[in-house]
Amino acid sequence: MPSKPFYITTPLYYVNAKPHIGHAYTNILCDTFARYHRFRGEEVFFLTGTDEHGTKIEKAAREQNKEPRQYADEMAPHFKDLWKLLGIEYDYFIRTTDEGHKKAVGNILRDLEARGEIYKASYKGWYCTPCESFWTKLQLVEGKCPDCKRDVQELSEDNYFFKMSKYQKWLIDYIKSHPDFIKPEIRKNEILGFLREPLEDLCITRPRSRLAWGIDYPTSKEHIVYVWFDALINYVSAVGYTTEDKRFKTYWPADVHMVGKDILRQHAVYWPCMLKACGIEMPKTVIAHGWWTMSGAKVSKSRGNIVDPVELCKKYSVDAFRYFLLHEVTVGLDGAFSEDLLAERYTTDLANDLGNLWFRLVSMLDKYFGGKIPDHSAKAFPKESIQDLLKKVTDAMSQYDPRTALTAIFEVVTLLNQKIEEKKPWVLAKDASKKGELGDTLAFLAEWIAHIAVLLLFLTPVTAKEILKRLGLKSDWILKKENEFLTPFLKPGMTMERGSALFPRLDEEKIAS
Ligand code: MSP
Repeated sequence: MPSKPFYITTPLYYVNAKPHIGHAYTNILCDTFARYHRFRGEEVFFLTGTDEHGTKIEKAAREQNKEPRQYADEMAPHFKDLWKLLGIEYDYFIRTTDEGHKKAVGNILRDLEARGEIYKASYKGWYCTPCESFWTKLQLVEGKCPDCKRDVQELSEDNYFFKMSKYQKWLIDYIKSHPDFIKPEIRKNEILGFLREPLEDLCITRPRSRLAWGIDYPTSKEHIVYVWFDALINYVSAVGYTTEDKRFKTYWPADVHMVGKDILRQHAVYWPCMLKACGIEMPKTVIAHGWWTMSGAKVSKSRGNIVDPVELCKKYSVDAFRYFLLHEVTVGLDGAFSEDLLAERYTTDLANDLGNLWFRLVSMLDKYFGGKIPDHSAKAFPKESIQDLLKKVTDAMSQYDPRTALTAIFEVVTLLNQKIEEKKPWVLAKDASKKGELGDTLAFLAEWIAHIAVLLLFLTPVTAKEILKRLGLKSDWILKKENEFLTPFLKPGMTMERGSALFPRLDEEKIAS
């Protein structure tokens, strides 16, 4: 029986602002894992999309004198455009305003209500509009929102509640007995810490009088569904829950929900309880990544310290931006972003190490062998070392650790540059009796570069494909059996295309602008 497709999701991004580096990071991570699983021959379903309901969006639309729907229609393409620019190969883009999604939300609510999982009650609380959060008096910090420290309003209203509290014990047991459910460990412990306090039922509606922009609550005209309850359901509505049974069975459970650490509680507490109440299997892993910060503060629209991915890609290339984000931090930790650091990594790792390695190899092949792969002996193929790198990279990728994978690859790049210094092919070339050694040295380097390029297909795909094209090799690799990789790719006489610099020297003036 074929294995279940690998199903990976990003959060749905609010459309009240254009995407920034934080959003780009999540999608680049997911794209890397999606590409890796396709590379391993698996079917993949990679879901992303936009979160379009709720107060935030309504407010942003009104500020521009637009209807929320029109505003969302104008904003959603900014996300699609960025994913296109970044080469994000998602399979489906869901919008919470899609009819299919709204239908699934209604179906779930009707079912939960019919089974007594939802009740109506009067609710008194303190509401923080920017955070869309209700707080109890105890949770307020000096009378303000505990998250953003802004003013809150006291509200009392009739609402619908999901009986989340009854799942508390089950959830704690589930998290403890499924070590891979929440990653990394530190975030899992945070969630378990949160679950030491009594879990309250979740208020899942807003009165229409206060919020009109959202999904209608199916059994009350006066209520709109709370934006988080609506949005989380996308992970199952996108694969046909309650609408296309066969599709749902094919894809669910999700293998990975990738989220930022600020929205882990919704994904590791609300969402599992919702699924449990619906009788749906749990996703395999929820991974919480850290934040990109600038001068110590989270990059965010409200802080006004936005880093525009489009500008960075224009200046440094899509792959350089991708390399930086994947390589700079281990998934789970925060990363300090600075353009200076990006420029430095570009120059040292990409231009000087990888770019230069390619340049030196093709220059020497041109000069000594007319641009062709020379005759060489079988020992020129470094099978054991290539096997070792493959293992390091695949182990790291199966642990959702692209930083370690990139580090292992770039260590080899450094070693290969050192090898050139040691072997001094330009000296070998002067001695006719060393022609064989010269051929072996250059073939060894070329094989390494070819194999490295294959391993970069899911990490820096543009560069990887370019190198493979220049070597005259295929780039639609599917690696099912290791042995297909542990074999020479190049034959004597094959010609290589020199091409322009893989990572051109940075133009100082352009960078400073
Ligand atoms: N709409 C909700 C998610 C619903 S998922 C069913 C939401 N949207 S968001 O647009 O505010 O944030 C989306 C994601 O971007 C979150 O995972 C958040 O952590 C991430 N990031 C926003 N700023 C970030 C950084 N500065 N750095 C890294 N990621 C951050 O929350």
